[in-house]
Amino acid sequence: MNKTEQYENLLQQVQSVMDENADVIANMANMAAMLHETFGFWWTGFYRVIGNELVLGPFQGPLACTRIAYGRGVCGTAWKERRTVVVPDVEQFPGHIACSAASRSEIVVPVVRNGEITAVLDIDSVRLDTFDQTDAEFLNRMVEML
Ligand code: SME
Repeated sequence: MNKTEQYENLLQQVQSVMDENADVIANMANMAAMLHETFGFWWTGFYRVIGNELVLGPFQGPLACTRIAYGRGVCGTAWKERRTVVVPDVEQFPGHIACSAASRSEIVVPVVRNGEITAVLDIDSVRLDTFDQTDAEFLNRMVEML
């Protein structure tokens, strides 16, 4: 299976396990687990917007920093600029927050509800240049289910 086929399958699987009662934490937890297991990423998880910062939410992988300020790091940049941020080499991203020294590339996708960014999905890889437009497109479709 190529990456597009893997994402297409995964979208259906994720859709089928989304909690009807829309408990967002439960849904984020399963989404992170399924993405992480399917692609073998290094770290897959959510930071939720709480007040004026991002706070660690459901994730898979090693421990991570718990709070990220608006505009800081890749996550805070995606929040501030309201866009998906693809980082082929984290060492080239000014202000990257290194939760783990093993992380080499990263993608951060904003979660939007009623026009507001409520969270970001953050995925880290131990390989350089892991993420491209295919990841960006499918991950945006996936977080729309939340
Ligand atoms: N690298 C992120 C911080 C979160 S960890 O990767 C899990 C950033 O620069 O925002």
